[in-house]
Amino acid sequence: MSIQSELQATISDMVVEGKGILAADESLPTIAKRFKAVNVEPTEENRSAYRSLLLTTPGLGEFISGVILFEETLGQKTADGKPLPQAAAEQGIVPGIKVDKGTIPLVNAPGDLVTQGLDGLSDRLVAYKEQGARFAKWREVYPIAGHNPTMLGIKTNAEVLARYAAICQSLGIVPIVEPEVLLDGDHTIDRCFEVTEAVQHAVFHALHRHRVELEHIILKPSMVLPGKDALKKASPEEIAEKTLAQLRRTVPAAVPGINFLSGGQTPEEATANLNAINAMAGNAPWQLSFSYARALQDPVLKAWQGKTENVQAAQQALYKRAKLNGAARTGSYTAEMEKN
Ligand code: 13P
Repeated sequence: MSIQSELQATISDMVVEGKGILAADESLPTIAKRFKAVNVEPTEENRSAYRSLLLTTPGLGEFISGVILFEETLGQKTADGKPLPQAAAEQGIVPGIKVDKGTIPLVNAPGDLVTQGLDGLSDRLVAYKEQGARFAKWREVYPIAGHNPTMLGIKTNAEVLARYAAICQSLGIVPIVEPEVLLDGDHTIDRCFEVTEAVQHAVFHALHRHRVELEHIILKPSMVLPGKDALKKASPEEIAEKTLAQLRRTVPAAVPGINFLSGGQTPEEATANLNAINAMAGNAPWQLSFSYARALQDPVLKAWQGKTENVQAAQQALYKRAKLNGAARTGSYTAEMEKN
């Protein structure tokens, strides 16, 4: 298969009506934090049991078309010895892999961050592909504060994302391009709009410079939201209107799918906001979906608590959230559906 048809096959399997992506790629410190909240020890055994629980959830493939895994998970197995990427693939869920190595401060841009991991990336991608990964994910992070993000931060992060995306495509791996404007702070929704527009404009400019084929990427952006501590909150309709306006300004129609991150919204908020976006999207050129970690997994972790006897309840919690977000893909979710 040519690289082009390989990329296209992965896009066709991932950008599917009614479905979205499960992000289960928490790094070791992040999963330790999530486990601590429900009193689970962050051992390799517990991480393996938890990720196995997620990927063997009956019926998950009805609403989930792709799963982002952490490196360790690629090599882990279910209780009956099946590699976890294979367990996902058997449910019709495309396995992918987080390939960035987290953020460090960006020198000469106080307050801004930049993501590491480009060195040796192509060798790692070749190995991940052999383990079953068909797509990758890389996250750049933009905090909003007085002077942040700076123009230096915006340009540098865009350049890194574009280099990552070009390397992935050269190896037949679909890149998920994730520029996350953080929810932290008390900024207004309009400030978030302005920052997100500048960030995504720079990202697509850099993707163009690096000759990345937009038909073969998935964009994973943050929604346009007021800061977590902002006095003035926003309705799902206002969030949808501003998120769509910003996307129309910056994202070319060639991009097949936009899968939002949840970024600290509650599970219910993330679903209601995605629903409002789809209800208002009209004939938008891209599919508008989800790639949630916390908004899909928080109820699962609470139900599980590290106990084998809770696995079924935890899987039911995941199935429910996946189904509700599946409904939000068509704007047909209602708060009433939370009760079932
Ligand atoms: P959240 O949905 O928890 O923001 O995580 C998304 C993400 O970036 C993981 O890939």
